Amino acid sequence: MPLVPPYIESLREYEAGRSIEEVQRDFGLTRVVKLASNENPLGPSPLALDRMRRATGTVNLYPTGGIELRRELARQFDVRIENVIAGSGSEGIMSNIIRAFLCDEDEVLTTESAFLGFQILARSRGVKYRTVPYKNWHYDLEALAQSINDHTKIIYLANPNNPTGTTFTKMAFDRFYNKVPERVLIILDEAYFEYAKDNPSYPDSMHYRYDNVITLRTFSKVYGLAGVRIGYDFAHEELIANLLKVKLPFEPSTLAQEAGIGALADKEFLHRSLELNARGMRYLAESFTSMGFEIPPSDANFIMVPLPSVQEAARMTEQLLQQGIIVRRLNAFGLPRVIRISTGTDEENEFLVDAWRKL
Ligand SMILES: Cc1ncc(COP(=O)(O)O)c(C=O)c1O
Repeated sequence: MPLVPPYIESLREYEAGRSIEEVQRDFGLTRVVKLASNENPLGPSPLALDRMRRATGTVNLYPTGGIELRRELARQFDVRIENVIAGSGSEGIMSNIIRAFLCDEDEVLTTESAFLGFQILARSRGVKYRTVPYKNWHYDLEALAQSINDHTKIIYLANPNNPTGTTFTKMAFDRFYNKVPERVLIILDEAYFEYAKDNPSYPDSMHYRYDNVITLRTFSKVYGLAGVRIGYDFAHEELIANLLKVKLPFEPSTLAQEAGIGALADKEFLHRSLELNARGMRYLAESFTSMGFEIPPSDANFIMVPLPSVQEAARMTEQLLQQGIIVRRLNAFGLPRVIRISTGTDEENEFLVDAWRKL
């Protein structure tokens, strides 16, 4: 037996995007903007910061396992506390789902170039990982339903999807759901839910309280708390009970839990962030369309720009970097000629579009 299992040996370490400080240092720049990781350009929710500050004096004590945040989420979303879990980001919970529910002979099914975090977690479990191609940059839910076999255990769907930003509709999801056997778990990753929820055809999975659907959400995006690591998940109580058994006992941290409670109360920040994003998305979509690019319709806080060639995508990414603009080329997702751009402040968006036009 090898020391390292082959399915771990063949993985590649997650490569985080370049940091602002690193680019300032490498290129001798003072102004650097990061539009690469779908973060909130307004910074963190002020109410989340307040609650974290007030809790710093108690960090000598172990955390409570997220119980206060679970209580608050249950209250706000009108579910029972037994239907909610909180964790170290939605990826932390995803990792617990993989550990709790997959057996060696099970298979995972999702789209090609799915969210990288999920790809890595699922592959690291050593089970068969199957994908179906996108249809016009959207999930092909019909093909996914047809690909279910006796071994399929988890189907992963991100809605809106990262990296395409596209969503599937209520009608499409209903049709798909009716073809999925009850023994199959559907992970509905709604990391970008807040940005999409006002689209009338968007299926808010909280309206589908199906026993085999797990809803994943996060405070990393619209609440600006990516660095804190706090996310949550709604599901049937039996699923939550088993997730509670495998999660790290002291996840989420005290400060992460406090940040989550503060963020949930911060309606003003939520509103301001959504307004800024809607404006930025309109501006980016119009600008890139007018430059002749075909941008898939995005309901998230980023757009995806397919370029004519891999070389062109690499050149644009590098030249933008030299001018102090960090964007994300999607080679690690398996899309080397595609660039993903997150919305920034109004000035940052204009800075990017001006630089792009010149290049
Ligand atoms: C679809 C999707 N799910 C989950 C995450 C991770 O969220 P978290 O920071 O809560 O782990 C991201 C982050 O980029 C994402 O795009």
